[in-house]
Amino acid sequence: MNIHIFSTNCDERAPPSPGRDPFETNYFEVGFFTLRPELSSAMSESEASERVVEILKKAYSDEMETVMNYQTNAIVLDGVRAEEIKESLQQDIQEELSHAQQLGQRLKQLDARPPGSAEFVARQDTLQPPEDSTNVISVIRGVLDAEEGAIETYRTLITAAEEADDPVTEDLAVTILADEEAHRTEFRGFEKEYQND
Ligand SMILES: [Fe+2]
Ligand SMILES: [Fe+2]
Repeated sequence: MNIHIFSTNCDERAPPSPGRDPFETNYFEVGFFTLRPELSSAMSESEASERVVEILKKAYSDEMETVMNYQTNAIVLDGVRAEEIKESLQQDIQEELSHAQQLGQRLKQLDARPPGSAEFVARQDTLQPPEDSTNVISVIRGVLDAEEGAIETYRTLITAAEEADDPVTEDLAVTILADEEAHRTEFRGFEKEYQND
C-alpha cells in the first residue's frame, strides 16, 4: 500500500489540474509520511504546516457536506420507524456545524481561510437521499461511511499536527475525533437494530 501511494504522488508537486480534488494529493502525502516516519525528516516545518492547513480545509469541506446530507435525509425519510433516525440526524447536524466552525476559526488563526463553494468537491456518494424514502438502512450505512471518513481525516490531522509541532490543532482534532467516534457508535447501534428486523 505504501508503494502504491508513493508511486501515485512522488512526482505530483504541480498545482492540481482543473476538476481534480485539490486536497487529494496533500491528503495522501500526509498519509504517506505518516506511514513512513523514517522519511519525515525530509519535510521542513513549513511544509508540515502547509499540510495541516490542507487537511483542515478538507475536514471543513467534509463537515459542510455532512451537514447538507444529514439535513436532506432528515427531511426525506418517511415512516414511523424513521423518526428515531431523523431525530438523531437533526442533533448531529448541530455538532457537525460546530466542527466546521471550529475548523474555520483554526484556519483563520493559521492565516488561512476555509474554502467557499467554488472550491467544494462532493465525496459522500453513499449518503445521497435514497430513491425509496422508507429505505432507512441505506441512510444509516451512508452515515457510517461519512463518520468512518471523518475519523480517518482527524486521525491524519492529529499526526500531521504533531509533525508540524502544532498542539492547538492537534488538540482540536482529538476533541472532534471523540465526537465522530460517538456518532459512529450510535449509528452502529441503529444498524444492528435494523438488521435484526
Ligand atoms: Fe464532524
Ligand atoms: Fe459526525
